[in-house]
Amino acid sequence: MSKTFQRTLITSALPYANGPVHIGHLAGVYIPADIYARYLRLKGEEVLFIGGSDEHGVPIALKARAEGVTPQEIVDRYHFLIKKSFEDFGITFDIYSRTTSSIHRKTASDFFQKLYDKGEFIEKTSEQYYDEEAKQFLADRYITGKCPYCGNEKAYGDQCETCGTSLSPLDLIEPKSAISGSVPVLKETKHWYLPLDKHEAWLKKWILEDHKEWKSNVYGQCKSWLDMGLQPRAVSRDLDWGVPVPLKGAEGKVLYVWFDAPIGYISNTIEHSPADWEKWWKDETTRLIHFIGKDNIVFHCIVFPAMLKADGSYILPDNVPANEFLNLEGDKISTSRNWAVWLHEYLEEFPDKQDVLRYVLTANAPETKDNDFTWKDFQARNNNELVAVLGNFINRSMVLTHKYFEGKVPARGALTDYDRETFLEFERVKVEMENYLNQFRFREALKEAMNLARIGNKYLADTEPWKSAKTDTNRTATILNLSMQITANLAIAIEPFLPFSSQKIKHLIAKSDSKWSQLGSIDLLKEGHNLNEPELLFEKIEDELIERQIQKLLDTKKVNALKEKRANPIKAPVSYDDFAKLDIRVGKVLECMKVPKADKLLQFKIDDGLGGRTILSGIAASYRPEELIGKTVCFIANLEPRKIKGIESQGMLLSAESFAGNLRLIHPDANLEPGSEVS
Ligand code: MF3
Ligand code: ZN
Repeated sequence: MSKTFQRTLITSALPYANGPVHIGHLAGVYIPADIYARYLRLKGEEVLFIGGSDEHGVPIALKARAEGVTPQEIVDRYHFLIKKSFEDFGITFDIYSRTTSSIHRKTASDFFQKLYDKGEFIEKTSEQYYDEEAKQFLADRYITGKCPYCGNEKAYGDQCETCGTSLSPLDLIEPKSAISGSVPVLKETKHWYLPLDKHEAWLKKWILEDHKEWKSNVYGQCKSWLDMGLQPRAVSRDLDWGVPVPLKGAEGKVLYVWFDAPIGYISNTIEHSPADWEKWWKDETTRLIHFIGKDNIVFHCIVFPAMLKADGSYILPDNVPANEFLNLEGDKISTSRNWAVWLHEYLEEFPDKQDVLRYVLTANAPETKDNDFTWKDFQARNNNELVAVLGNFINRSMVLTHKYFEGKVPARGALTDYDRETFLEFERVKVEMENYLNQFRFREALKEAMNLARIGNKYLADTEPWKSAKTDTNRTATILNLSMQITANLAIAIEPFLPFSSQKIKHLIAKSDSKWSQLGSIDLLKEGHNLNEPELLFEKIEDELIERQIQKLLDTKKVNALKEKRANPIKAPVSYDDFAKLDIRVGKVLECMKVPKADKLLQFKIDDGLGGRTILSGIAASYRPEELIGKTVCFIANLEPRKIKGIESQGMLLSAESFAGNLRLIHPDANLEPGSEVS
């Protein structure tokens, strides 16, 4: 299994340009990919790191239709926002392009054409839902109906989002077109299919035998697909948004988004290196690594490799280190439900704190199972780890060196056994980090980098250079020399993970070059080397700021609950006779006031045409008393009187409750005389 590779091509899933990017994207795909790219570059390896926006597909077309704009306007809006967020967070793509670029159109179209010419597709005619009003075939997402499993009335033709079951449009009960609302009819249409069944044998060997080293979540998912047996997959769709199928008679048909998007990796490479892109894709000494989320595994491990193999001139991925999902405060992150921490919003709340988020998302990365992001954990990791461990060590080393040696790295004397043990520890850190980084286990690798700071803190606490300063300056010099060497090591060790902080440390120690190979050395800073003034790397995050983020999420929950609220089911029937027993009357509010020690209650004096009566009503949250005086209202006049807070209420005012819980009194639509009967 050990080929000799000369360079690494890193791709990261192209995010859909139908919304901004959030912490789930960053944790699952872009931070790991960036850590890996930075690590390899630090080692001096040849690396190309590809990113870009995925700008085709049905959800983008649907969103455009819903907003009454073109799909191009939608993707323009988000592509630039996404690109900027990645830049802001220090994701070091060599290129971040997009699948609406002309290079991509041509690359994807040519890719299809070549496979077509080689006879790699099969053509099949099938029946699909067609909207006769809109005169177009309906993609699975364009059809809604009742889920046959849970009864959700708003299930989509590809999935029910209530129970999570994958569906086919034919499963839906009472299907409706999302475009016109009409009932779709079945009509024949022709499409091109990639016969994955024909690729099954080599895929099985390639993955299950030759790539046993893949992460267990990836290997396991591939195995279960392969065990089920592969079926031909359509690579075209009836849609007006995408790369047109480049064949005669294929008007109105485009490449399926999952056919064109991975070709985007190739197009973006061509755009970046038009002259020698082929060395990245067609040379066996290139190692191709796809960083993705778990929902993309089948496309990157099975479908795209089959496409590449069908072409015949491309290399296949060497590894696909897919992550699981990150949840937010216990719930699945969702763009449509606005349940997310958006990167651009994070930076408004926490300016210059990119590394804090990078740290938390790596330390808590969903590498082997789904994980949860909580604001409390975010705060705790900042305060207890970045501030108390990493920042604290570096600051103490800097401050002490300034205090005792005027900011110059002091000369090192003879090392004690304890010094040597400490030094061996940080050599060990390097070995461990490499070990983890090579296996894409970034959480563990980061933990080791932090251990370097822990080792440093322990070293200072144990050797107490402030004590020896009074008796033995040489000893203090040795201790602080070693502490500064650890600091210089930290600048290297954290660079892939916390690039902004690494940069700051390099400024503090006035040493900007760093190579991975220097990690573990105790001779990074020469005796007499001038340091800059100490500055804090991290600051404590206060409760107030965290509470605000939590409140923001609670508000989102409320808004969502309201959107989802529907009318309650109707109560059991009552006879007319029963209804007629109620005596409902019109009245006029004479007096209205708050009931002391009862938050919700208002006390009314109502003119009922018969001398007046007192009624209590629980609407104080919705009205101020003075705005009700003089209003004409309706009330149940023969409800048995009831004592509340010591006051007898003689009836009940009628009011309606909005979905948001706001109460509104019922008025007749003219000012009828008090005592008029309601029926
Ligand atoms: N846009 C897809 C998603 O967000 C990922 C596409 S990856 C690519 O799930 F390979 F197709 F580019
Ligand atoms: Zn369902």
